[in-house]
Amino acid sequence: MNRKIGVVGLGYVGLPVAVAFGKEHNIVGFDINEGRISSLISGTDYTNEVTDKELTETSIQFTSDPSKLKETDFIIVAVPTPINEHNQPDLTPLVKASETVGKNLSKGTIVVFESTVYPGATEEVCVPVLEGFSGLKCGADFFVGYSPERINPGDKEHTFTTITKVVSGQTPEILEIVADTYSSVVKAGVHRASSIKVAEAAKVIENTQRDVNIALMNELALIFDLLDIDTAEVLAAAGTKWNFLKFSPGLVGGHCIGVDPYYLTHKAQAVGYQPDVILAGRRINDGLGKYIAGTLVKKIIKQGTAVQGAKVTILGLTFKENVPDLRNSKVIDVIRELQEYDIDVQVTDAEAGGNEALREYGVNLISYEELEKADAVVLAVPHRSYIEKSWSNIQSLFKNEKGVLVDVKSVLPLDKKPDGISVWRL
Ligand SMILES: NC(=O)c1ccc[n+]([C@@H]2O[C@H](COP(=O)([O-])OP(=O)(O)OC[C@H]3O[C@@H](n4cnc5c(N)ncnc54)[C@H](O)[C@@H]3O)[C@@H](O)[C@H]2O)c1
Repeated sequence: MNRKIGVVGLGYVGLPVAVAFGKEHNIVGFDINEGRISSLISGTDYTNEVTDKELTETSIQFTSDPSKLKETDFIIVAVPTPINEHNQPDLTPLVKASETVGKNLSKGTIVVFESTVYPGATEEVCVPVLEGFSGLKCGADFFVGYSPERINPGDKEHTFTTITKVVSGQTPEILEIVADTYSSVVKAGVHRASSIKVAEAAKVIENTQRDVNIALMNELALIFDLLDIDTAEVLAAAGTKWNFLKFSPGLVGGHCIGVDPYYLTHKAQAVGYQPDVILAGRRINDGLGKYIAGTLVKKIIKQGTAVQGAKVTILGLTFKENVPDLRNSKVIDVIRELQEYDIDVQVTDAEAGGNEALREYGVNLISYEELEKADAVVLAVPHRSYIEKSWSNIQSLFKNEKGVLVDVKSVLPLDKKPDGISVWRL
């Protein structure tokens, strides 16, 4: 069956969804950001999730005119679901998108939300807005479903079409239509969840599980640091057991792992449950940047360099390696804490855009070539280009090839470490 599908929100999630569906169906790709629409029309995707070739070949009608959604009969919503400064869900983009969809909703349309939310949000928050702005009745005039997104930015193996898609619908009939529609493009197939709430909960616990597991690794790293044991070596040894789960310590940034658990904890607290384990994990992960900076300061003192005015190079600002995505990066916590000590911090990133770094964090990115020699280097995000030559690139970043290196993700081999450099890693 050929459908006319509207995709609302063309970011990291929405664009690959639109492009994949565009191979089988007619697509209206809507985004409120006119700059994003014009760059997509000209064939450029700043997220790098879709190739220029795919973009030029697609027949998607990219638009910032919401009235084009009236021509569609299946609408997928993939707008951001961030948290505010109090770690509470900020549903503003989701509500605004629901308003837009409501105003342009044709009878019989199925609206499927893909944004990560807490269990209940689709029916409790989005449906009333859709009804209010359309004047139509949900379940009679239009229908809703929920299908969480699991893509992993920068990952070319686990993509929209190769990950099993969890689908749900408000009735068994709608579930079947949603399942059929996704099955037409998702090669890995679909998993039918029994309700919208089950599908919403499934997504939010995937990222919560990951967050809590990383928090445990971070807590272990803090303990082993006090015991003077190398965590990476402990994990390599423990990892030889068949059922030891392979997680490693690190900064937990980005707009998923460090954010989604707060959607669940918000809902848990709303129904009277205090989610101690999840929140403890969040606290540990959110405090790591400060710990890394504090430890580096001690190391700088121990090597006999004056802290005030010491030069520290930060390699990488994005929330993870080999992507340009700067959202909710925790490297900024390291930078700000070092600056509190009057340390002279210079930051470079092989992937991120300079304008965005300035806008988001007030950080002036400099190019790798412009880096001045430093007393210490923090390999915060091991982008490919930083580690492809192992130690030889890194060594040349230090004054007299001597100083402290913080290898946050333990990627550089210790047995090849040059003599003048002392390494601290999580
Ligand atoms: N990026 C990921 O890896 C990932 C993975 C799984 C789930 N998710 C979830 O998917 C959702 C979208 O995330 P993303 O990373 O694609 O976000 P994004 O910021 O990359 O893109 C969102 C897009 O929506 C647009 N937008 C915002 N408000 C809008 C509105 N009212 N109407 C139309 N367009 C609007 C923005 O202009 C932007 O282009 C979030 O809920 C996120 O948690 C993201």
